[in-house]
Amino acid sequence: MKQTLSHQPISLVVLISGDGSNLQAILDNIANGTLSAKVVAVISDNPEALGLVRAQKSGVPTQAVDRKAHQSSADFYAELLCQVESFAPDLVVLAGFMRILPTQFVARFAHKIMNIHPSLLPKYKGLNTHQRALDAGEKRHGATVHWVTEELDGGESIIQAEVEIQPDDTAETLRQRVLVQEHKIYSRAIQAFAKDFVQC
Ligand code: GRF
Repeated sequence: MKQTLSHQPISLVVLISGDGSNLQAILDNIANGTLSAKVVAVISDNPEALGLVRAQKSGVPTQAVDRKAHQSSADFYAELLCQVESFAPDLVVLAGFMRILPTQFVARFAHKIMNIHPSLLPKYKGLNTHQRALDAGEKRHGATVHWVTEELDGGESIIQAEVEIQPDDTAETLRQRVLVQEHKIYSRAIQAFAKDFVQC
């Protein structure tokens, strides 16, 4: 039986750079009533991101803040911060956003920015996590939702999901199985935050 959620939905701004399959899972869970949230905007640093199309199909406002359209990195992040602030989100959700947010941004939304990372943190921070796990002969791999701090993939872990590594796994097969888990745990982490969120 579907569980109905009664408290006020929290507002999310989701930052993406690419496919947006995690964004899609969040939108689907909001639509099916298992996640008490509203995506008030999707912002991408990549104007071609498929995730922008997914958002538009769900009627969510989108913005592209393109690094190439800004003279400096500082200008780019100032614009990004401005855009995010303009939506006054309860929570900023990084869903495949492939940039490291600067100190000023993280400080502005302290303990209000979540990220999903495709490894069992603290193992395999950074890129190419699936291949690195295979190369290391790991038996298990997975994904972590964590709070964002100034340290790359270093903030406190909120929830993890594990998958078993199979002998015939490639980085791609492993990525696909981990992604299935990502789609489950991100909404759970957001819902846990929403449940405890006190609205003013
Ligand atoms: C996911 O594996 C996520 O963990 C990582 O980037 C990927 C984004 O996938 N940070 P998608 O854009 O949500 O499909």
